[in-house]
Amino acid sequence: MRGSAVVVTGAGSGIGRAVALACARRGAAVAGLDIDADAVRSVAEESLAAGAAGSVGIACDISSEESVQAGFAAAERAVGNVDGVFANAGIEVNAPLHEFELESWRRVIDVNLVGTFLTCREALRLLVARGSGGSIVCTSSPAAFVGFSGGGNSAYAASKGGLTALVRSAALDYAEHGIRVNAVVPGATDTPMLASGPSGEIEHARTSARHQVPLGRLGRPDEVAAAVVWLLSDDSSYVTGTHLVCDGGLLAKSANDF
Ligand SMILES: NC(=O)c1ccc[n+]([C@@H]2O[C@H](COP(=O)([O-])OP(=O)(O)OC[C@H]3O[C@@H](n4cnc5c(N)ncnc54)[C@H](O)[C@@H]3O)[C@@H](O)[C@H]2O)c1
Repeated sequence: MRGSAVVVTGAGSGIGRAVALACARRGAAVAGLDIDADAVRSVAEESLAAGAAGSVGIACDISSEESVQAGFAAAERAVGNVDGVFANAGIEVNAPLHEFELESWRRVIDVNLVGTFLTCREALRLLVARGSGGSIVCTSSPAAFVGFSGGGNSAYAASKGGLTALVRSAALDYAEHGIRVNAVVPGATDTPMLASGPSGEIEHARTSARHQVPLGRLGRPDEVAAAVVWLLSDDSSYVTGTHLVCDGGLLAKSANDF
């Protein structure tokens, strides 16, 4: 990825941080965007130390149109013409559907779906104008494909289902521009988000992963990052409109296993 400039949203933590560092280790320039300014600036320093050709951490709320536009402009000023974008920032709020507060429901959709739309739109405006192609990778979830019982996961699942449809649609629309649009589907991955998920505490998630995930454990952020780096890089030059599942076998398993 030497010579590439990559924007990563949600770069301050978890999977986004792992992707920023993986791109940095491959010599790319990396612009991290995150609502947590301190975290993303600290990851920018780590990225430089890891070998990034350039690095910047930018405070950005992906659910705000102005913030995303300003974030991409600042990213290009700092690292040059962007050719790869990882639209990854997301949140999870769970509640039984009949008790879900409208404000909380809207926030999940605003960040995970509208925020991904705003990130992709800004990326596409730059890539289309430049005319030299590019790669966009979004972060979906198994919740886009199957239901998880008992977790009040409806807003999150709806947001990721929408994102998954957005990815397929954008892939078709921008193929003629040489812009590839794909998604990664991380399974239960050991990040701070998991602690706030339907499975409760991280220790509970680790225990249930031993029983529920065919590979018998949670994923690591660096394992998801390896899949994302492949989708961002020219090694996946004939891949667009796809979902790369990185979940330890979870989605392959029938819920009716006994
Ligand atoms: N961890 C998992 O098990 C898992 C599984 C499937 C999908 N995902 C998805 O992976 C992505 C990354 O999650 P993670 O597990 O690394 O979580 P995380 O909480 O560790 O990281 C998410 C990052 O996004 C940032 N963020 C949140 N809202 C934002 C906003 N409005 N604007 C900009 N940045 C914002 C946070 O500050 C944080 O740095 C999310 O889209 C999540 O839905 C995670």
